[in-house]
Amino acid sequence: MKFERLFQQVNIGVMSVKNRIAMPPMGTGFATKEGLVTEQTLDYYEARARGGAGLVIVECTCVDFPRGIHALHRLVIHDDSAVPGLTRLAQVIKKHGARAGIQLHHAGRIARSKVTGLQPVAPSAIRHPAASYPQGEVPHELTASEISDIVDLFTAAASRAKRAGFDGIEIHAAHAYLLAEFLSPFCNKRHDSYGGGIENRARMLIEVLKSVRKSVGDDYPLWYRINGREYGLEDGFTLDDAKAVAQMLNSTVDAIHVSAWGYGRSALANCPDKPGALLPLAEEIKKVVTVPVIAVGRLTPELGEQAIEQGKADIIAFGRELIADPELPNKALGGSLEDIRPCIACFHCHDVGGSSIACSVNAVIGSKGNGYEVKPAERIKRIAIIGGGPAGMEAARILSLRGHKVVLFEREALLGGQLNLAALPPHKERINPLISYLSTQLKKLDVEIRLNVEAHLEYIKSLKPDAVILATGGVPLVPQIPGIGLKNVVTALDILTHGVETGRRVVIIGGGSTGCETAELLFEGGKEVTVVERRPQLAFDMGFRDRLRLSLRIKDLPITFVMNAICEEITKDGVTVSTELDKKQFISTDTIVLALGMKPNNTLFSLMQGEEFETHLIGDCRGGGKICEAINDGFKLGCAL
Ligand SMILES: Cc1cc2nc3c(=O)[nH]c(=O)nc-3n(C[C@H](O)[C@H](O)[C@H](O)COP(=O)(O)O)c2cc1C
Ligand code: SF4
Repeated sequence: MKFERLFQQVNIGVMSVKNRIAMPPMGTGFATKEGLVTEQTLDYYEARARGGAGLVIVECTCVDFPRGIHALHRLVIHDDSAVPGLTRLAQVIKKHGARAGIQLHHAGRIARSKVTGLQPVAPSAIRHPAASYPQGEVPHELTASEISDIVDLFTAAASRAKRAGFDGIEIHAAHAYLLAEFLSPFCNKRHDSYGGGIENRARMLIEVLKSVRKSVGDDYPLWYRINGREYGLEDGFTLDDAKAVAQMLNSTVDAIHVSAWGYGRSALANCPDKPGALLPLAEEIKKVVTVPVIAVGRLTPELGEQAIEQGKADIIAFGRELIADPELPNKALGGSLEDIRPCIACFHCHDVGGSSIACSVNAVIGSKGNGYEVKPAERIKRIAIIGGGPAGMEAARILSLRGHKVVLFEREALLGGQLNLAALPPHKERINPLISYLSTQLKKLDVEIRLNVEAHLEYIKSLKPDAVILATGGVPLVPQIPGIGLKNVVTALDILTHGVETGRRVVIIGGGSTGCETAELLFEGGKEVTVVERRPQLAFDMGFRDRLRLSLRIKDLPITFVMNAICEEITKDGVTVSTELDKKQFISTDTIVLALGMKPNNTLFSLMQGEEFETHLIGDCRGGGKICEAINDGFKLGCAL
């Protein structure tokens, strides 16, 4: 077997786990407003257990509701009303041979009074700085007796989790939540026995674990999640601190789960883009403990296998990878890695605010019962899809899986459509595996693909299709401003698709995601770049974390950003822009690049009306413009036809 070690049995205390694959805790937002388990919660976790993970750790579950919750629709375990739902949850996970763990959580100063109605609490009255969460509010500094009350809340929650049938408990002492706040000298400035040296900063975590241990018994699997270190701080929690804590708790717990946190440039450290970025932390912790170490951080089956072989970790957690494809373990076991739908590290699942998670590449998370199911077609149809971008490919995949006869037309020489463009800017290579995955699936499903074909109406009619799906994407928006037709004006698409060359100095009109990423690409190509954006914010079309990642990369580059400015006129020597205060400014440049977004390319759609076949629009040519919308459209129509 290719992944011999990954699929070895492992023990966490007395608990035998069938393989070394874990699903780490990930908040879903599928709970009710009161934090109770819903059908969607059950479907979502059951799919991940069915997919073959040996250990499924249920998302952060709040022990102190509402004070300790960081968003609504997150699970709670603060009183007995939560137990019936959690009991069903543990059952659906265990039904498939997986072990059910649950993460017990207190959000500390990350909680917001806007959500909870209460002032957040923390080791010290210091607000959380803007990082991968927006800036927090000043928390209440917990007294020693309030700390003891929270220890009791963790303990009571643990006995509820055990009563609900969970096989084990993870205490959340990682990231920037309450127990991690106590551990970190950056936010713990106390002068009592809970502050100062690492023995004191670890006191609350030790009290929680010892108290929970006493309540659940010695033979009940108990572990905790910790930051291997905090990045981006001078006075942060260090790897030496983490090692010291790991040693102090080695005999109290049955495993340790090593994550990380960061600030400033490292604000996204816990969800890295780089595969295996956090493995060195797990490796270092493993040197000082005897209990199994769970590693996480954009791991692949190959990296996981290697890490176990090299003694860097004992259990491999796949987070976003299991959101994207719950069947990852089964597919790895069956040797069909090419069938694993890849996570493209886009942060869409993370950027949902208080609502439920969604995935850019997987339209079905937690959505059983909403009417979209991949089931055999009642009547086989001949379906023509025009456009081989993400929407067209996903529709072709689902329709073909359901038994329809599909022919896919793409006017370019390769499949992928806008995905090929999305993959071009620096750091976007993570998009390519999605193109490969979809192309491979279409090949395996024997979808008829005709490349280099511009599908005209007469040609489509000659195929005598039952249905035609238009997935022809978008065309760049070109504003009606003086000088727009001059030779020095190109679109971002011209640069990204056709490799059109620009002069040395470039002004990009539009500071959305495409404008910013094109700016980065051109800058790396040695150009002098200015971006003109009419809003006060760049990359407005991105979610919070995706935008943060982009801004962390580009903010120190010598690119000029002219904000709150509208392009008034273009001449052969440059552009005139006016700012909010009605000030006009002429920017001298060689090339003007339009990055103002796309408009749907759907003229064929109106021509097709009145024909004998049914017609549908999906993806960018229906409006939208994001990968998640394209895949979602393709999936839903694929299920519906
Ligand atoms: C949508 C989402 C929700 C998350 N929620 C939690 C959580 O509830 N508790 C936690 O400890 N980590 C949480 N994380 C972090 C993950 O457990 C994991 O450490 C992180 O995604 C990195 O692993 P990956 O690269 O395999 O995704 C969350 C991550 C994501 C993407
Ligand atoms: S939304 Fe994006 S980051 Fe999240 S799991 Fe899906 S592909 Fe990965």
